[in-house]
Amino acid sequence: MSYKYISSDNPLGIIRMDHYEITTQNLDNIHQLYRNLGFTRIQDHFCAKHDSYYYKQNDMDVIITVGKKEGVFQYDYQKNHGDGCCTLAFRVEDADYALKEAIKRGAEKLQDLREETIDGITIRTTAIKGFGDVKNLFVERCGETKQFFSHFSLIENPEKISAENDPKLIRLDHLTNNVYHGDMEKWVQFYKDIYGFIEVRYFDIKGLKTGLFSKVVCTPDRYSVIIPINEPDESNGYSQIQEYLDEHKGEGVQHIAMTTDNIVETVRTLRKNGFEFLDINPIYYELLPKRIPGIESKENIDDLKSESILADGDDVDHYLLQIFTSTQIGPLFYEIITRKAHDGFGEGNFQALFDSIERDQEKRGVLK
Ligand SMILES: [Fe+2]
Repeated sequence: MSYKYISSDNPLGIIRMDHYEITTQNLDNIHQLYRNLGFTRIQDHFCAKHDSYYYKQNDMDVIITVGKKEGVFQYDYQKNHGDGCCTLAFRVEDADYALKEAIKRGAEKLQDLREETIDGITIRTTAIKGFGDVKNLFVERCGETKQFFSHFSLIENPEKISAENDPKLIRLDHLTNNVYHGDMEKWVQFYKDIYGFIEVRYFDIKGLKTGLFSKVVCTPDRYSVIIPINEPDESNGYSQIQEYLDEHKGEGVQHIAMTTDNIVETVRTLRKNGFEFLDINPIYYELLPKRIPGIESKENIDDLKSESILADGDDVDHYLLQIFTSTQIGPLFYEIITRKAHDGFGEGNFQALFDSIERDQEKRGVLK
């Protein structure tokens, strides 16, 4: 059999993210949250073990599940950690092959091959244990199917978001994992050894409440799947990563980054839908053209300022725009990002935000 994706560079034949799953016991809250983010609930499934709902927006697929009894994966995850992201599902070329190869490379199996057929099209899944208690599911889809999985039913007349409330989010950019101090390297190695991911970035961010070390792993195309991994740096106070680990009672998905083509419009819409964002010191925007020379010719700085959107990058042709929501599901939050030929994660913003506050203090005569 000849494969299109499986190769020595891509040993599991990963194509893209297939979906992720949120487990909750507060369905109404999570449903409203995903509606506010612009998703539409289009399929559902009810059984003795769990109720599941399938949401879609452009290129993003999300399953929200309420587990109903002990021994059910989603129920147990929620019981141990509270609401959160319990499954990362990767689209693969051959789910059986991906499982066998992953085990050969040291992974722990969670699920043997399952096959289902919808209108003559086969979907095959297998799973391994990921970081923390997160399941890593491999999904092979031999074609487009009406139902996301065979147990789902289509919802008649799904309640679509109105045009004025549609934030127009497009695709998953990255999913950031928080792990215990000392474990970052282990999980970087996990993604490298088992998935064949490459390591693209490392940063060390110091600061009160922000101390963290971070490495980024991704598929060799640097696009299809991107996973930053953070561990706390305790040398500088109580790290935000440690705060996450304490609240989630373990390692887990810290934030989910989604792209938009027009971040100013998206943020305006998200504000209309009830999201709040951190105010940024106005001095940050005075310093911006010095940090990214020429950005003022491409972006309306007043718009960025009025919406508190951050920018980071090298020059006028290579930068990104980003903003973070407050925490939304336990300690999990969302990032909205627009990339202009820049593959960073906004690491320059930590220093820039710090500098803007310091400059403000100087101006007010607080700092000498
Ligand atoms: Fe991020």
